[in-house]
Order: sequence, then C-alpha cells, then structure tokens
Amino acid sequence: MNQVDYLRISLIDRCNFRCLYCMPEGAELQYILKQQLLTDQEIITLLQEVFIPLGFTRFRLTGGEPLLRPHVVDLVSKIAHLPQTQDLAMTTNGFLLAPIAQNLYDAGLRRINISLDSLDPDIFEQIIGNHGRKRWQQVWEGIQKAYEVGFDPLKLNVVVIPGVNDHEVLELAALTINKNWHVRFIEFMPIGNGDLFGDRGWVSSAELRDRIRQRWGLTESAVRGNGPADVFQIPGAKGTLGFISQMSECFCDRCNRVRLAADGWLRPCLLNETGQIDLKSSLRAGISTFQLQEQVRNLLNFKSEINFKQRDPGTLGTYTRTMSQIGG
Ligand code: GTP
Ligand code: 5AD
Ligand code: SF4
Repeated sequence: MNQVDYLRISLIDRCNFRCLYCMPEGAELQYILKQQLLTDQEIITLLQEVFIPLGFTRFRLTGGEPLLRPHVVDLVSKIAHLPQTQDLAMTTNGFLLAPIAQNLYDAGLRRINISLDSLDPDIFEQIIGNHGRKRWQQVWEGIQKAYEVGFDPLKLNVVVIPGVNDHEVLELAALTINKNWHVRFIEFMPIGNGDLFGDRGWVSSAELRDRIRQRWGLTESAVRGNGPADVFQIPGAKGTLGFISQMSECFCDRCNRVRLAADGWLRPCLLNETGQIDLKSSLRAGISTFQLQEQVRNLLNFKSEINFKQRDPGTLGTYTRTMSQIGG
C-alpha cells in the first residue's frame, strides 16, 4: 500500500454556494457549532504532535468553503511555516479568492484547486444555486488572479453532471490549450445529493476522453501527480486534462490520504464511513497527543482494509455526512 502522508483538513463546513452535487438548496444541514470547530491552535497541535510525527508532510485545506474561515491567511501561514510542511494546497470555489489570493500566496500557499463547473454563467448559477446574483464573473476573476499571482499548478475542477454541464466538456478542455491550467473532470459521486445522482448518474471518464480524442487527439501525460487523477494532454497544449474516475474505476490501491473534518473527526476513506475517530473530543478530554498518535497509527495500519476497493464498481454507499462536511 502507498504511504499515507497527505491530510485534507476541512476548515469549516459552511459554504456560500449550494452546489447541486454537494449541498443542494433545501437540504437540511446541521452546521457545526462554532465551539465544536477545531481551533487554529488545535489544528496546529494535531499537526505537530500527531500527524507530522507519523510522517504527514502534505496538507490540503478544504471546506465547505475554506475562505469563509475567519483569519484563514494566519492559519495558512502557521501551517506553511511548520518545518516539516512540504506541500500546502487549498480547494476553493473561488468566489472570495481574488482579493485574498496574493495574501494567501505570501503566507505560503502554493497550490490551489478551484471549482469551475461551467463556462456559461446561467448554467453556473443553476449548478451553484440561484441567489439572484451573478457569481460566475467573480469566480472567473478569482481564477485569473490566482494565475497572475503564480499559483502553480492551478487546477480547475469540473464535476460532470449528465444533462447539466456535460455538453461543455470540449469547451472546458480547450482552456488548457493556451494556458498552463489543469482542468480535471470528476465523475459525479453519490455523496451529498443522492436524489440527483439517482436520476442522472454519472458520465464515465472514458466517454469524455473519447469525445476529446475525436476533436483534438489525446496523449497520456508523463506527469502523473500524487492524487486520484489520471493525467492526459491535448497534443501541443500548455496545460493538462485530469480525469478523476472513482465511479468507473478504483484508485484505492494508491490512496495516500485521510481527512480531518472541521469538528475534528478523522476519516480514513472518502467513500465509506468505517473507522472514523473523534480527535477533538479526545484532545479536549485531556488525552495525551502521544495516545492520539497511537490511535491514528492503528487506523493507518488497517486503512487498506477500510478503503473502498472491496466494492463493485458503481455501487452506492450510504452517507451521514455530505461532501461539504467532508471536504471532497
Ligand atoms: P491534488 O491531487 O493534491 O491536487 O488534489 P485532489 O485532486 O485530490 O483534490 P481536490 O480537492 O481538487 O479534489 C478533486 C476531486 O477528487 C474531488 O471530487 C474529490 O472528492 C476527489 N478526491 C480527492 N481525493 C480522493 C480520494 O482519495 N478518493 C476519491 N474517491 N475521491 C477523491
Ligand atoms: N461528486 C464529485 N465531486 C464532488 N465535489 C463535491 N461534491 C462532489 C460530488 N458529489 C468536488 C467539488 C470540489 C471538490 C472538493 O469536490 O467540485 O472541487
Ligand atoms: Fe481513498 Fe477511499 Fe477514495 Fe479509495 S475510495 S481512494 S480509499 S478515499
């Protein structure tokens, strides 16, 4: 099994969007109360005294929407300055990004993934929940700003929803031709909106690749990366195309990550809820970080058994937490 050295840290479960596939409008969500959120200091303590001693060196900040976390730049700076941090990244919806992008970069953030599910502002509104405001433009400005500031790689995430945005795949793929952007097509997962999933299901990466191949040709990229994406390139393009295919394929064997929720629950696998442990309650109950390290070590030792790879491809799980509560 792969070494597990990558921790995704959800900073907050709230979001300023209501994406169809994640936390749709009308869904009754119980938000984590402020006093139940891990504090900045608790996050740093867990990193320094539990995760880093176990070999974790790569961290990704997620949400909900991580930019809604108060004083997020300070927290980025604290994590970036831990001597063992080798990689610090963030996944954001980009809406609040433009004015803060330079500060995040200066604080030590180097990689950023931004969701961009459509190039059509009307379809975008339909996906993110219509708030009567035009939000596409502001997200687009966030993306441009992140590019100017120098985030590299800059990845754009597209969750492909059949009948909603799948007709835009070629247009979105074309963004990689002239810019060093990394567009990733993600197979829609049934977490967060089982009803929508049930109606429509998902489009396989293989099908998307066929469409792209017919238009421009497609080569497998030499750069594989450490994440779940299979990386390809339109011949001669500056950027790359990634395909995250958890519904049609299984990449559990190369899984290198676990997830810390904003309320301190550690989750060993995105796609199943087995084995989670409540680090915050233990920390607040005065259990030593040495003991917590032991608990996490045990969890990592049987992570390969918890991983979702035993499933039949395409089967649905049941989830008590939505994607916004897990952080993707
Ligand atoms: P990097 O490879 O570090 O850039 O990040 P990433 O692609 O893993 O992160 P991002 O937050 O952009 O996630 C993109 C998509 O991949 C989301 O839909 C995630 O839910 C999904 N994803 C990330 N990690 C895993 C994983 O371990 N398993 C599964 N099934 N999906 C994952
Ligand atoms: N299926 C696939 N990807 C999802 N994301 C959120 N919900 C889902 C889902 N149901 C993606 C978002 C974001 C990342 C953190 O997870 O697009 O880019
Ligand atoms: Fe990792 Fe679970 Fe995703 Fe498999 S399904 S890659 S084990 S998070």
